[in-house]
Amino acid sequence: MISKVVSRTLSSNRVAKYARSMSNWSQYEMGPPDPIVGLNESFALDDNPNKVNVGVGAYRSDDGLPYVLPCVREAEKINMSKDTLNHEYLGIAGDPNFVKLALEFAYGEDSGVLKEGRVAGVQTLSGTGGLRVMGELLKKGGHKEIYVPNPTWGNHIPIMKNAGLEVKKYRYYNAENSDLEFDNMVQDLKNIPEKTVVLLHACAHNPTGMDPTAEQWQEISKVMKDGNLIPFFDCAYQGFASGNAPKDAFAIRMFVEDGHNLATVQSFSKNFGLYGQRVGALSIITNDESEAKKVLSQMKMTIRPMYSNPPKHGAQLVSTILGDKQLTTDFIDQCADMASRINDMRIQLRTALEEGGDRNWEHITKQIGMFAYSGLSSEEVVKLRENHSIYCTLDGRISMAGVTTKNVNYISDAIKEVTK
Ligand SMILES: Cc1ncc(COP(=O)(O)O)c(C=O)c1O
Repeated sequence: MISKVVSRTLSSNRVAKYARSMSNWSQYEMGPPDPIVGLNESFALDDNPNKVNVGVGAYRSDDGLPYVLPCVREAEKINMSKDTLNHEYLGIAGDPNFVKLALEFAYGEDSGVLKEGRVAGVQTLSGTGGLRVMGELLKKGGHKEIYVPNPTWGNHIPIMKNAGLEVKKYRYYNAENSDLEFDNMVQDLKNIPEKTVVLLHACAHNPTGMDPTAEQWQEISKVMKDGNLIPFFDCAYQGFASGNAPKDAFAIRMFVEDGHNLATVQSFSKNFGLYGQRVGALSIITNDESEAKKVLSQMKMTIRPMYSNPPKHGAQLVSTILGDKQLTTDFIDQCADMASRINDMRIQLRTALEEGGDRNWEHITKQIGMFAYSGLSSEEVVKLRENHSIYCTLDGRISMAGVTTKNVNYISDAIKEVTK
């Protein structure tokens, strides 16, 4: 009896070993953790009670907790009470009412191009999904490359590369003086071959927090028009830059006025706090209604084999808010409150850093939006993580949305310690 059990165990071990050696998946090497999202994993494992996560760009209350906008709570209640809501599939292009409201949010309710039916628009899996659909569409349309600012949001590059495009960079930010290198940017734009797509951050540039001024946007628009370049706006922070969501669409609306047939990808993750709901839109301005229909058909053909159709819940929340005047006003106020808390934290962090130190931290209050591009070196970032359990990305980008009145002094003391 015993020998039977032993021999069965031996043979099952042998089978397991054989199965392992014959694995169909052994060609996959362990990949590196994601430079941004991977920080959450290390953060979760850290048992330091003072640990701070200023890596991922997600807004936190002053208690360091995830925040649901009251207008979103209200929209949830309204939607829950509707017994007409169901869980059927959306169409490939998403919820048409959401798409209409999202495009009006970016281009303006009175936008001529929307009224003329010249805009092809679809709901997407938030900003990331919209960027990927755009990458695929560009590749399909014969584009071989795309230009992005240097630096840019880390995920832009793999998204576009995975879509089969070559990613090239135009100069944007000078780390030496923590400022926009505008003249170099313009010079680079002038050298880009015509009909090339150029990605621009609509506002609150990630990671630098430095946006062009209104005059500089005008010049960029002119240079791009003269060079016959195709602007592609990534609008992930509408409301976080100035605290005024319509005002943050300034650059997009001005480019449209200037006659650019541009494209825009919108994310509703940050401004509406709907991160996990994956709410976004992609739109392309075309010459006329019939061209818009053709482009829309290609967008749908791109989406269908990729993920078939987008999720419903978050888009319905945004539609409920943007479809109601009072809720829209509430949203704008609540978004402004988030922007204002972040700005207060900028001032407090800079003040605390400058107390007793001789480094210049002026850029922290000069920058806008969710991030402070601190200028910390990667070595200093590692020291912050290892010695103080403060997690930010290796390029020194600090999510100001994670800084609170409770941790600002801890963060500034730690930064002073690693930079002395
Ligand atoms: C510039 C930029 N674009 C797009 C996104 C995409 O975000 P999501 O996919 O959550 O909408 C982000 C997120 O951090 C971003 O910073």
